[in-house]
Amino acid sequence: MDKKYFRSNAVYQIWPRSFCDSNGDGIGDLNGIASKLDYLADLGIGIIWLSPVYRSPNFDYGYDISDYLSINPEFGTLADMDSLIAEAKKRGIRIVMDLVVNHTSSEHRWFVLSKQKDSPYHAFYYWRVGKNGNSEPPNNWTSNFGGSAWTFVPEVGEWYLHLFAPEQPDLDWHNPEVIREVERILRFWLDRGIYGFRCDVINQIWKESLDDGKKKAYVTGQEHYLMKEGNHKILQTLNKDVFSQYDCMTVGETYDVDLLNARRFTDHELDMVFQFEHMNIDKFVLPIFDKKYHPRKLKECLFKWQKGLDWNANYLENHDQTRSIERFGDAGKHWRESGKMLATVLLTLRGTPYIYMGEELGMLDMKPIFTPDEYKDGVDHYVYDTLRKFHFPAKLALKLVHNCNRDNARTPMQWDASKEAGFTTGTPWIKVNPNYEKINAKAEEADPESIRSFYKRLLALRKKDPCLTYGSFEPICTSGRIMAYYRSYEGAMDLIVMNLSGRKVRLPKALYTEKASVLLSNYKGAALAFKKHLRAYESFVCKIH
Ligand code: NOJ
Repeated sequence: MDKKYFRSNAVYQIWPRSFCDSNGDGIGDLNGIASKLDYLADLGIGIIWLSPVYRSPNFDYGYDISDYLSINPEFGTLADMDSLIAEAKKRGIRIVMDLVVNHTSSEHRWFVLSKQKDSPYHAFYYWRVGKNGNSEPPNNWTSNFGGSAWTFVPEVGEWYLHLFAPEQPDLDWHNPEVIREVERILRFWLDRGIYGFRCDVINQIWKESLDDGKKKAYVTGQEHYLMKEGNHKILQTLNKDVFSQYDCMTVGETYDVDLLNARRFTDHELDMVFQFEHMNIDKFVLPIFDKKYHPRKLKECLFKWQKGLDWNANYLENHDQTRSIERFGDAGKHWRESGKMLATVLLTLRGTPYIYMGEELGMLDMKPIFTPDEYKDGVDHYVYDTLRKFHFPAKLALKLVHNCNRDNARTPMQWDASKEAGFTTGTPWIKVNPNYEKINAKAEEADPESIRSFYKRLLALRKKDPCLTYGSFEPICTSGRIMAYYRSYEGAMDLIVMNLSGRKVRLPKALYTEKASVLLSNYKGAALAFKKHLRAYESFVCKIH
């Protein structure tokens, strides 16, 4: 296996609007990020993934880009970006940008021009005449954000396709000019010193046909555009023309991806993909409906992907998900132990680990939960209003929105115990989580037993121990609540053992008699040898002799 930079380095995802505000306008910015590079270098990460920082009207907070070659003025300038890249480089950190090319913003020049039927840009998007004398959308597809995936524009006399909000029209990748333009964008940033791209919803870009889809409770039409042959061909082209010409990394966001397609996406297309199976184990039909979490499910799912793919993009959180301790750990009594156990999962599986900002502090979902006046994400408003329309009581509707509320992960980074958690000197654009007096970077940096200190130690260990970076993955068969595996490399071997649950569990004999010296554990002074039980969320990383 090659030893590319992304194999031995961890990625840290920043949602720029909420990371650090340098100018007091209540919105995080590039200079704010630059001011925290020492914090990130000290933590031990090697790559930053920036959620979109391009010019955008912010209907979907940057995932609607109106100019791919400039920076959102709220975040700074191109010069600030150049300086961030240079300052990061000085600290051994590379920067990956978000590439959002399934759709643009409806304010993008291409889309504005596309409204003229004789413009070459008309064919950049899916403009179609509707059914029934143009009175109904061209097909029955629904958008990921709810409602029809088509919007009618009277002045054009046609409908356009948007798999997300109406402000996010889909590009038509059948048009070779679209490929040419996107390649120009890729080169523009790579030539500026960017290390690669996280490719947004990249397995949906090729619409094979515009036929009606099978009716589904959530997103009708997917069978016509998820992971189609044309999709793979486009990525092969981008890889051949651009990615393979640079020392760069690419990771695809691939909803609903299966192993077969994931293997294809990672063969001369992208370096790795985000699969979503483990994000659904505590969901029932729709993301608003929670179901009981079973640790066994998490283990089975992670093992399946570890065994099935040579190199995974490992993550437990991102800007679209609620916080992981709330889902897979214990936000109460065992907040600290479970946070460290989840860090052990994230950083010892084979693949590139992705830490989401604040995850290293054990940040939690908003409590008391957001009210509709406080929601910033348009999806939350849509879901809440729809539930109310169907006569769900307000309290229940609030709770259901909370279950999948993306604002939970988008609250400001908690830097210290001062006003607004040290995120801004102004008024934050979104509410700061009131728990910042307890959970904040300053307090955790000073505390050797904190979740952050554990992340730091684990990141350092992962860097220097080739078993944890390049080593093979060998699962060990145990009961559902325990997750255990070996990572071996060139004759050396590590053993990782974890209790995924809050209950005391019995260890199989084979594990507690293992001749293993503890490299890291989330309980002070614990040893694995001759240990018969694991305490709540107890976890070990050991060297086998
Ligand atoms: C996936 C992104 O992660 C999400 O935040 C965004 O809303 C959609 N794609 C649309 O771009």
